[in-house]
Formats: sequence, structure tokens, C-alpha cells
Amino acid sequence: MSLALMRWRATATTCYKMSMLKLIHVSSVVISGSFFLLRFVWMLRGSDSPQQRWLKIFPHIIDTILLASGIALVVQLAQYPFVDNWLTAKLFALFAYILLGSLALKRAHRYGIRVLSGGLALFVFAYIVGVAVTRMPLFWLTWN
Ligand code: HEM
Repeated sequence: MSLALMRWRATATTCYKMSMLKLIHVSSVVISGSFFLLRFVWMLRGSDSPQQRWLKIFPHIIDTILLASGIALVVQLAQYPFVDNWLTAKLFALFAYILLGSLALKRAHRYGIRVLSGGLALFVFAYIVGVAVTRMPLFWLTWN
């Protein structure tokens, strides 16, 4: 096999792996975000979320896949938090999202704080998507 063909095959394999990883990552983003929204709406309506076991376990599985695929993408791209600004911003925003989400669904006692935290968590989630798509921490500054 010629060197050019070997190089082409290696590039094609990397692209394929990358697009599979991205598909897994983006799918878990959509499922994870939808689950958070659903549980937030249940909380707003004052209805107890259904108590089935799978409903407690499933979001953790999805969030683990989300994190693992994110880390795998970081490795594939060879771009890293604390080196590349957009990934640093994404990581800090992820911490904020987890904190706000847990206040909204579990930790806060007052209804008002839960509503505020949930709203902010959704806002931060949208920010993370914006940063991911544009690879810019202050992406809205480029809008005209
Ligand atoms: C709530 C959490 C997260 C959300 C909403 C999110 C969202 C997204 C979206 C929508 C994309 C696709 C962007 C595009 O190609 O247009 C993406 C890609 C990516 N994400 Fe995440 N992500 C999250 C967590 C993470 C974490 C924890 C990491 C790293 C540890 C990470 C690393 C990456 C990387 C490296 C890419 C590839 C970007 C590219 O190829 O341009 N993500 N993310």
C-alpha cells in the first residue's frame, strides 16, 4: 500500500471516530437536557416525579456518557481545558450547571430559589451549547 493511501486511511479513521464520538456526545446532551427540563417542570407543577427505579438511575448513566464522550473528544481534538479558553469556559459552566441543577431539583428549600436556580441552570446549559458550537467563550459578542 502506498504511503499516501495509508495516510488517507488514517485520516478517514480519525474523522469517523470523531464523528461517532460527536454523535454520542450531542445525543447525550439532548437526552440529559431534556431530562433536566422534565424534572424541573415536574418540580414547578408541584407533582412528585415518578418513583420508578430506572428514572433515578437513567439520568446518571446519560450524564456519565456525556462526560466520558466529552473527555474522549478533548483527547481526539488535542485541545484542553486551561489551555484552550473555550474548553475552560465550558468546564466552569458545567460546574455551575451541576450546582444550579442540584439546587433546583434537590437542595434548595424555598420554591423561589428553586425556580431561580432552575431558570439559571437552563440559561447556563444554553451558554455551554453556544460555546461548544462556536468554540468562543464570549460568542454573543460576534453577533451583529
Ligand atoms: C452540559 C454539558 C455539555 C453540553 C451541553 C455540551 C454540548 C456540546 C455540543 C452541542 C457539541 C457539538 C458542537 C458542534 O460540533 O457544533 C459539543 C462538542 C464538544 N464538547 Fe461538549 N458539551 C457538554 C459537556 C462537555 C464536557 C464535559 C466536555 C469535556 C470534558 C466537552 C467537550 C467537547 C468537545 C471537545 C467537543 C468537540 C467540539 C468540536 O469538535 O468542535 N463537552 N459539546
